[in-house]
Amino acid sequence: MSALTDSAAWRKLQSHAKQLAPDIPGLFAADPDRARQMAIDGAGLHLNFSRQRVTGKTLELLLALARQQALEAWRTKLFTGEPVNNTEQRAALHMALRAPRSARMDVAGRNVMPDVHAVLRRVCAFAEQVRSGRWKGSRGRRITDVVNIGIGGSDLGPRLVCEALDHRATGPRMHFVSNVDGSELDRVLKPLDPRRTLWIITSKTFTTQETMANARAARRWFLKTCTATEIPLHFVAVSTNRPAVEKFGISPDNMFEFWDWVGGRYSLWSAVGLSIAIRLGGAGFRRLLAGAHAMDRHFQSAPLERNLPVLMGLLGVWNSNFLGATSHVLAPYDQRLQRLPAWLQQLEMESNGKSVDRQGGAVDYPTTPVLWGDVGTNAQHAFFQMLHQGTQIHPVDFILTVQPDHRFAELHRLLLANGLAQGAALMAGQDAGQVRAELAARGLQGSALEAAIPPRVFAGNRPSSTLLLPRVDAWHLGALLALFEHRTFVQGVIWNLNPFDQWGVELGKQLAGGILAAMGGADADVDLATRALLKKLRRR
Ligand code: F6P
Repeated sequence: MSALTDSAAWRKLQSHAKQLAPDIPGLFAADPDRARQMAIDGAGLHLNFSRQRVTGKTLELLLALARQQALEAWRTKLFTGEPVNNTEQRAALHMALRAPRSARMDVAGRNVMPDVHAVLRRVCAFAEQVRSGRWKGSRGRRITDVVNIGIGGSDLGPRLVCEALDHRATGPRMHFVSNVDGSELDRVLKPLDPRRTLWIITSKTFTTQETMANARAARRWFLKTCTATEIPLHFVAVSTNRPAVEKFGISPDNMFEFWDWVGGRYSLWSAVGLSIAIRLGGAGFRRLLAGAHAMDRHFQSAPLERNLPVLMGLLGVWNSNFLGATSHVLAPYDQRLQRLPAWLQQLEMESNGKSVDRQGGAVDYPTTPVLWGDVGTNAQHAFFQMLHQGTQIHPVDFILTVQPDHRFAELHRLLLANGLAQGAALMAGQDAGQVRAELAARGLQGSALEAAIPPRVFAGNRPSSTLLLPRVDAWHLGALLALFEHRTFVQGVIWNLNPFDQWGVELGKQLAGGILAAMGGADADVDLATRALLKKLRRR
């Protein structure tokens, strides 16, 4: 038994979960003030969690668990640049990237803020050069298209932000290539003019196989039209690895650096956000950072019981570890946030998808649930059937945007009505009596009526939370993404994990190298199934 599952706070929650017959509609009937009580605000966002299967007692016990796990002390360690990433002996100080210049944030006793703001100024200045046309491509052409090549954290965050804020974008067209799949590169390249295209090669390590292969392919494409001396006009890099950038042929003048204390999936606030600065302008990028900083301050200063990341993290722990939910759904009711589930999948599952705790012991409790989702209302016509009537419970986080940025007010009302209705339906359900009355009123009777009832019954009592986002602008988007980052951290602390390493991605990378060698005819050590598949691939 691990120290966590053997602990007093854990055991109390276990017995509370057993005693609690959680009937959400009944909890509302018993306390009409519940919807107001179970709602909190932070950094402009509003969360209502009254449709979770919790009582005041549950929250009290969850907060006791947070205190037992020394959440506040861990938060201090995080913000003071201690090496919270213990397997790599690194800090995880992405909050410094969005802190004001006047702040002091130390890593290993050194204030990183001057470096952070020096790079931020360079990023914004370069972005303005490209946006204004002062940055000239080959033969003095203006840059009309920018392509970011990167994968994982070097792609998902900037891509999400650029897509979500496209309605506010004023810069050159932005494209993203992440997969090592020629069809993606081909599709992006098709309309591009090499003399008007800027390439941003984004890779923390500058060794990621997929990114480097795509970057080399892009360079070959470029050299079909332009000369090697023109590479500095069209290729820039974002990385922590200066020697590798130079080796690739990009001069340090065209490199925007960041640091090993910025984890890949927490890096969009660094120079990795260069694409954002180009698309939105430096001022837009800074507003994104300011919104995230506001959430950092909320996380640091709000009492635990009114702290958005803390409460959302604890509710997730409650649902997974005590109510047995194996997945967690994100349903943003805003088309512009379509990429949010993909970004959050990397954030949560790469951070907390682990089975070994900080001390290297095996955990005996579920860690991160499967995170999945899609935008409403599309999702309603895809997987919501299962959420309402499937055999398992999948808690949902709904995100509703208050102010749309389009001209169709009636469509927005419809979108919001649907988002609200789904949470209400998951909670209330519909019992056999209600179905019978409804069908009888429509004239159905006898055995036909009885047969029609079971498939129309909804168990209800299915938990969800609703987050209100005032609007999809840079500031609120920054706050929203930082909220999820901190929620992930909170859960990592409760589960006694290191959320900042990702050893689980290494083995596949290594094996791909051997298989590539085998494909080239080398006598590599590959397993029998792979050998058989390679044989088939060769024949075809
Ligand atoms: O998937 C593993 C990973 O290391 C991620 O953590 C990271 O975001 C991604 O690969 C890309 O890494 P890099 O920025 O070094 O190319």
